[in-house]
Amino acid sequence: MTAPASLPPLLLGRLNHVGIACPDLDAAIAMYGALFGATVSKAPFDLPAQGVRVAFIDVANSQLELIEPLGEGSPIHGFLKKNPNGGQHHVCFEVKDIIAARDAMRARGATVLGTGEPRIGAHGVPIIFVHPKDTGGVLVELMATPEHH
Ligand code: CO
Repeated sequence: MTAPASLPPLLLGRLNHVGIACPDLDAAIAMYGALFGATVSKAPFDLPAQGVRVAFIDVANSQLELIEPLGEGSPIHGFLKKNPNGGQHHVCFEVKDIIAARDAMRARGATVLGTGEPRIGAHGVPIIFVHPKDTGGVLVELMATPEHH
């Protein structure tokens, strides 16, 4: 497939984080500490708009985003129903321009979840999700590159 001329050949920037769903966030944090000596770089916090409670663990070149469902309508419930012990939920890449990335996904025939309007994610920058049916079964999050990079 040839990319339209107006689009860069590669949209994907740095791997920002790997999202991991867990039924019990505190238990997951304890496990990463006991097994790997890892500590949270950002303590657990609620993101009610997205129906999740989140904590971050820094690794040398990226982050783990530990996600627990928050509230009845959380999108994580369905995932945990299929994966009761939790599991890898998504991968997140940084992009220079989130709107251009969204439009590129659509132009290339992929489905952007929700309304397609970028929402503010756990890192405080706009994000979108690309449907796993278009990405080989992996839910892909694209996020605007945070300022500090
Ligand atoms: Co994420």
